[in-house]
Amino acid sequence: MSLQDELTTLRDEALTQINDAADVKALNQVRVHWLGKKGPLTEVLRGMKNLTPEERPVVGALANEVRDVLTAAIAERQTRLEAIALDAQLAAEAIDVTLPGRTVQQGQPHVLQQIIENLEDQFIGMGYQVIEGPEVEEDQYNFERMNLPKDHPARDMQDTFYITPEILMRTQTSPVQARTMEAHDFSKGPLKMVSPGRVYRRDTDDATHSHQFHQMEGLVIDKHITMGDLKGTLLAVAHNLFGEAHDIRLRPSYFPFTEPSVEVDISWHAVTPDMNPEDIEWIEVLGAGMVHPNVLRKSGIDPDVYGGFAFGLGPDRFAMLKYGVEDIRNFYLNDVRFLTQFDQKG
Ligand code: PHE
Repeated sequence: MSLQDELTTLRDEALTQINDAADVKALNQVRVHWLGKKGPLTEVLRGMKNLTPEERPVVGALANEVRDVLTAAIAERQTRLEAIALDAQLAAEAIDVTLPGRTVQQGQPHVLQQIIENLEDQFIGMGYQVIEGPEVEEDQYNFERMNLPKDHPARDMQDTFYITPEILMRTQTSPVQARTMEAHDFSKGPLKMVSPGRVYRRDTDDATHSHQFHQMEGLVIDKHITMGDLKGTLLAVAHNLFGEAHDIRLRPSYFPFTEPSVEVDISWHAVTPDMNPEDIEWIEVLGAGMVHPNVLRKSGIDPDVYGGFAFGLGPDRFAMLKYGVEDIRNFYLNDVRFLTQFDQKG
């Protein structure tokens, strides 16, 4: 076979392979095979040395032509294959904007957490600090420092989970009063704090009792604090939680750590000046009073110089009243059908 014939055969075979290349990688292999240094075309060119001087330019021109044809065919096939690959990728990545979206179910703070945070915001606005104390507490802080020595009959008011004779699950947030008072530097200003948290009592759970519930303690100690300050503060809380038109009422009561002590009621409905006082329905919401001199003394504060008020309110009770929840256990069962009713995101 003459070199010319070899070249045409080679060209045709190469063109077939180029057009059959299924992807860019295969095409590259075809290119290396036919046009590479060890490829058939180079081989043919090498054989030219045996040609006559007349034949040489003719075959040389044909060889160049074949190389140009193949190079052009490869480039064209490459463009074509790239376009096919791009189309395939676009098809695979296509987004159907008409598909319905997937909704992500978002949670929200627990209703009690909402009440607590709302109260915290209000107290922070009035210059209070938010301070937390331990739930596993010493008898010393939970009772002794709150003017409740071991033999005090009022200890029976709070049935206690003891861990050891001196360590217990706190029955109230009042121990945080003692912890805060002993740490406070009065040269830096008055003490104003609230302390939210869980408390524990050996109650049998029912609609109105839970062995674990929440309290928020409040304490203000300064030089000239009066019962009027206490009442004004609690009125502001009542307005915030239940609305401006609600009133509060203080009734004498007893707590070992306050003297005098009061129980505070909030009016169930809005109170108007023309209302007959007899028609107002009151509900008890918290205990409070003026800090007992013994409590101050036990925390190293001179009762002849400093005094103040304290209160302990129950976020669980507030939530029950505000939302008409009749069973306190609902707050602790974590049933989402109950909890999602208090979604404040709107
Ligand atoms: N610690 C009291 C209770 O749990 C509430 C209270 C706190 C009363 C502070 C007066 C002052 O019943």
